Formats: sequence, C-alpha cells, structure tokens
Amino acid sequence: MTEDIGERVVELAKRRGFFFQSNGAYGGVSGFYTYGPQGATLKSNVENAWRDRFAVQEGHQEIDAPTVMPEPVFEASGHLDGFDDMLVECPECGESHRADHLVEDATDIEDAEAVPISEVEEMIAEHDLVCPNCGTELAGEPVQDFNLMFETNIGPGSSQPGYLRPETAQGIFVEFPRLKEYARNQLPFGVTQIGKAYRNEISPRNSIIRVREFTQAELEHFIDPEEDEPPLERVEDVEVTLYPASEQNKENGDYVETTVGDAVEDGILTNEWVAYYLGVAKPWYERVGVDMDRFRFRQHLPGERAHYAADCWDAESEIDGDWFELAGLAYRSDYDLSKHGEYSDEEFTLFKQYDEPKTVERATVDPDMSYLGPEFGGQAGEIADALETKAERDRTVFDGDTVSVEVDGDEYVVPVERTGFAVEEVTESGEHITPHVVEPSFGVGRVVYTVIAHAYREDEVDGEERTYLELDAEVAPTTVGVFPLMDKDGMAERAREIAAELRENGLDVTYDDSGAIGRRYRRQDEVGTPFCVTVDYETLEEGTVTVRERDTTEQTRVDVDELAESLAGLRNGGRTFDELLAPADAE
Ligand code: GAP
Repeated sequence: MTEDIGERVVELAKRRGFFFQSNGAYGGVSGFYTYGPQGATLKSNVENAWRDRFAVQEGHQEIDAPTVMPEPVFEASGHLDGFDDMLVECPECGESHRADHLVEDATDIEDAEAVPISEVEEMIAEHDLVCPNCGTELAGEPVQDFNLMFETNIGPGSSQPGYLRPETAQGIFVEFPRLKEYARNQLPFGVTQIGKAYRNEISPRNSIIRVREFTQAELEHFIDPEEDEPPLERVEDVEVTLYPASEQNKENGDYVETTVGDAVEDGILTNEWVAYYLGVAKPWYERVGVDMDRFRFRQHLPGERAHYAADCWDAESEIDGDWFELAGLAYRSDYDLSKHGEYSDEEFTLFKQYDEPKTVERATVDPDMSYLGPEFGGQAGEIADALETKAERDRTVFDGDTVSVEVDGDEYVVPVERTGFAVEEVTESGEHITPHVVEPSFGVGRVVYTVIAHAYREDEVDGEERTYLELDAEVAPTTVGVFPLMDKDGMAERAREIAAELRENGLDVTYDDSGAIGRRYRRQDEVGTPFCVTVDYETLEEGTVTVRERDTTEQTRVDVDELAESLAGLRNGGRTFDELLAPADAE
C-alpha cells in the first residue's frame, strides 16, 4: 500500500463519494471536481462552521452575488492587468506548465512566484528542467504571464465582455455603495460571502487543492484605519506558529512559536487587524479538525503579495511533507474601494461625522474663464480643474505670480491673479473617507481535503484492518448510522422508526441493513460517522439500543427515549461518550 496519505485520501474520496473528477463519461476535464453525497455534506458542514464563526459570531452580514461580472469591474480591480501566473509551454508536446512550480519542485525555493520572470527562465536552464509530460528540455523556452480569468460574453455577440469572478470579494466591493447604507453608514462593518470562484489554472493539481472552479468563504471587513481597532484582547492568548518573511529569507529560517498578543508586541505581526483574524482563524481550523501540529501561518514575501495586498499571511497545512495554502489573511488597504470609486460613477467613500464641527482653512480657485478661454482654447476647462486640484493639494504653489499645471503631459502657466485663488475659513461637520479593508479569504475545498487527510487513520479491530476518518462530529457527513442487527422479528421496522425519529431531531442519519454488522460498522468508519446505533432483541424487549463510538469502538446501551438527546449532545460537544458509559460518574 502507498505511504502517500494524499493518494489514499483521493482513492477513498472517489470510492466512498467524497469527491471525484467531473465529467468522467467524457474523459474528465482537469481542474473540475464533483463533491459526492459524503463530500457535499462535509463541505456544507465546513461552510456552516465558517458562517457561524466569521459571520454570526462576529456580527457580520452575508451576501450572495453573481459569479459573472462585466469587464470594467476587473479593469478597476486590477485583475485584467495583474492576475497572472507564469506559463511555460513545452516545444515538443505543447503541454503548459507553471514555470514557478517547476522551479519549486527542482529547488529549495518555496515561493518561486515571487521571483522575476527572467530569473525563473535562468533557473529553468541552470537546473536543466524538462517537460514533466514528455521529458523535453525547457531551457530557452520563454516564460510568459498568463491571465487566469475565464472570459465570456454577456448576451449574444461580443459587445459586452464579462469574466467569471476570480475571487468572491469583487462581488462585495462593487456593492459597497449599497452595503454601506445597510450598515447605516457606520464603520466598522463586515460583509461575508461563500460562493464559487473561477481561475483558469495553468496546471491544476493535487485533486481539489488546485482546481479551476472552487468555493471561497471570504470576509471583507471595512474599517476606518484612523480610529477602528480590533478587539485584540479576545485572541491575544491564542498560540500560533508563525513563519515570518524575515525567517524565510534566512538559510536555516525557523518558526516563531508565540501568542497573537506577543507577536503584535514583538512587531512580528505589524497589522493588528490581520493579527486579530489570525487569532480567530486558528481555533476555527482546530474546531473543524485541522491538525495543529501540521498547521502554520506564513507571511508573504514582498514579491509574492497580490497586487492589492499591503500585508498578507497565509494559513497553511502540511500533508505528505508539502505545505499548501488554506487561506490568505490580507490587509487590502483602500485599494479596491479607491479603484472602483475612480473607475465607476458611484461613491465608494463614506461620510465620517466629526464629534465636534471643525473650522478649517480651505483653499479655493475661481478661474477667470474670460482669460483662460481665449488663452488656452479647448484645454481651458481641464486647466481650471487642474488648478482646483492644485489648490486642494498644495496651496503654496499659488504664492508666486504664476502657477503652472500639467494637462495631458503639457505644461500651462497661468497668472495667479487670473486663478481667483482664495483661502477661506469653513466649518465642516465631517469628511468623506475611503474605508480600508481587512480580508480573511478561505478556500473551502482545501479545508475539506485537509480535514479528511488529517483525520485519516488505519488500525486493527478484532484482527481485521480498518480504515477510518476521525472527523469531528460537527463536520462529519453522517452523525449516526442506524442498523438492525438482523432483518427479522421486527428489528428492521423498529430501526427505521428510530432513524426517522433521530432525523426529526435534526441529526444526519444513515440507515443500513445490508451485510454483516461488522461490515456496516466499517462502512461508516470509512466515511467518519462518529456513532452507530444497533437495534437488537433487547431493543424490542427492553427499549434500549447499542451505541458504538467510532474511534475507540467502545459500546454502551442507551434508552431509546433518551437517544436523540444523547446523540445531539455528543454532536454539539455538550456531552462526551464517556459520560454515556458511566452516567453516574459524570455527575
Ligand atoms: N480574495 C483574496 C483571494 O482570492 P487567494 O489567496 O488568491 O486570495 C484565497 O485565494 C483562497 O482561495 C486560497 O487560500 C485557497 O484556499 C483558495 N484557492 C485559491 N485558488 C484556488 C484554486 N485554484 N483551487 C482551490 N482553491 C483555491
């Protein structure tokens, strides 16, 4: 059997209905996966846990925006220009590869994405890298930027190009003018979204880890950078493993084991909002079953940061010795709202009321158009606008006799006396500010994959090998498997009744009466069902059932009347299986 947990997870996932490559009937298409019955439920349980922590508990609002957006959105966001990966094509077989990944696989470099293209080309030659598909040498082949967005046409014809969103975030940013009103124009406020994002990845790999269609769970937290502070005290004691950029740059760089509070104090986490969300994220990952011994936060190297990010830390998990990104926690500053404000006709600012009205000096201009018109012709209007901007930004330029402005690359000199320049005192009740954004951005599929891989166990029960998933009851697709010991004497009917009752009580239940009882246990173990209930002769005679716990395989008898309540308690963590074993001791 393979030592590779990833391979075992992929095999189990396909066999037991967690996930598998889509469109198999037509040969499959790389980068598209279907979540089967087990996987879809596990994924939706992970999403609900995320919603609970990042929307409900934080008091943020959730929205659901379209996945197709018109081109101007991505001109403004910078994705049309800057959302590229490095592509190298094999001259022999034509297969496309991510040049930075080829370099990472062949060297110690962890993030070749941060390396300039020319150096990546040099490394390909230096390390004699070959096409992974056909073995042809790639030295001398050009490495190019490849834009990852899927393009489409909105409506018939090609007059309105659109793109499948590469991140759910843009669906939130473009609606800021309305969302701020729902938040009563008060900062800070947060908006979340769980939905599909699309990236035309050059080389999808590792099953659902790098795909072309995936689910993101994102929070855009809009803040006033001058005034708003995160409630850091709530997470300051959370222990974190950090891998700062400074350590990654050293030959033998090491992790920093610390707490969120100390990391802020020591200047390792320089942005308190990002620190706060690291402190929220870590216990959440633990809650859904990510192994904390295989989990870290890694700071982006400067060249690696996305075009919009001022600082970014990734949550990463380890499987089979490889680390991969689970989430990015970024400080996006006012980048996105400023851009949409600039490119669209709407206001992406928010009016911030002062505590007390302020009297301020304001420089204004009132250009003499009867002079500017004849003197500058068609440029007069733009020159007047440029004078106004100059007055707002730097009034000292009006100190001399003339002032010069630049319009479309040409310089124009205007006598100050013709500008109508004046400084007046005005009382202002507030100002328009562009909020900043802190963004925890989670990939749901990568959590699902990690949770399965980290829960994967093999042991021996009664001399037989067993595979089981030690999934947390909150995310396990099925909470209870209900079995009749035999399909006779009314056991199956009673088991069906009990299964229905448990479902009515909100539990995820699987009923199974096929095959030997041991095989039924194994089937549930393999999909991570934490509890199984068996209906036997004692059930019919005394009204009790056997409840078996997955990891220890221990069993106890529970009254049918108390079964739903006991299992609900086990699922939500309100009680433990040990308490069921010895109720008297637990009191
Ligand atoms: N809005 C910010 C943003 O999209 P990102 O780091 O590009 O940031 C966030 O993506 C998360 O989305 C990643 O941490 C990862 O979990 C997930 N993700 C990104 N690309 C993915 C892909 N091709 N396949 C699966 N998940 C992906």
